[in-house]
Amino acid sequence: MTTKKINHVSIIMDGNGRWALDRNMPRAFGHRSGISAINKIVKACTTRQINELTLFAFSSENWKRPEYEVNFLINLFNEAIDSNINNLNDNNIQLHFIGNLSKFNSKLISKIKNAETLTTNNTGLKLNLALNYGGKWDIVNAVQSIILNKKDFNIDDINCENIEKSLTLDSSFPDLLIRTGGEQRLSNFLLWQHAYTELYFTDCLWPDFNENELDKAIKWYQNINRKFGALSNKDISLDKNA
Ligand code: IPE
Ligand code: IPE
Ligand code: MG
Repeated sequence: MTTKKINHVSIIMDGNGRWALDRNMPRAFGHRSGISAINKIVKACTTRQINELTLFAFSSENWKRPEYEVNFLINLFNEAIDSNINNLNDNNIQLHFIGNLSKFNSKLISKIKNAETLTTNNTGLKLNLALNYGGKWDIVNAVQSIILNKKDFNIDDINCENIEKSLTLDSSFPDLLIRTGGEQRLSNFLLWQHAYTELYFTDCLWPDFNENELDKAIKWYQNINRKFGALSNKDISLDKNA
């Protein structure tokens, strides 16, 4: 088997609440444990020569949760940035935040901006954290920005190339999406960018996700024949008409 290089991995980190419930603990305990799993996986991606990692941390729909859980999560994001930013920077990681960040309080927004500025010249893993992110919002936002920024706007300016330049991830789209926690849906995560991504679902709950689980996903990915709508050489060689 030839090994395909994975450029970009995205993860829907689901199952924190159930993980805590299984231990008779409040859901908040699961969210806190989820941060340790993030640190593990960031490190693992670096050593596996993955260039980009995009993590779904808070969706545009997660505001529907009870206020105490939303507040806990926002405090946890603040805390997690404070306690990990120097380590991330020392490890040459470039941090980006994607999503409608204007909905957060000014304390978190300035923390986010400082973290991005501090790590902007780093050349290692590009780590994108999706906060208040929704795929539908991203596409609407991209189309609106084309219309707003284009002088003498013409309807043909709404095209795939311009939309892709205006989406929050304009650099590369994920090759492999991992969703933990057993659900098999996108939950509004990177709807456009996942159009041709390989989708890997595991029952493993996010706080239990580790290097071994990541390697299982990578191994699964290695066996996939990515065709992007075309035919593989094998398909053609087996075709009687070829
Ligand atoms: C994912 O875990 C974390 C966030 C959405 C913030 P959940 O909180 O959704 O955990 P489950 O799915 O209820 O177990
Ligand atoms: C998706 O998980 C969002 C994040 C992991 C941040 P949810 O738990 O919110 O998704 P649903 O509600 O099961 O679709
Ligand atoms: Mg969930």
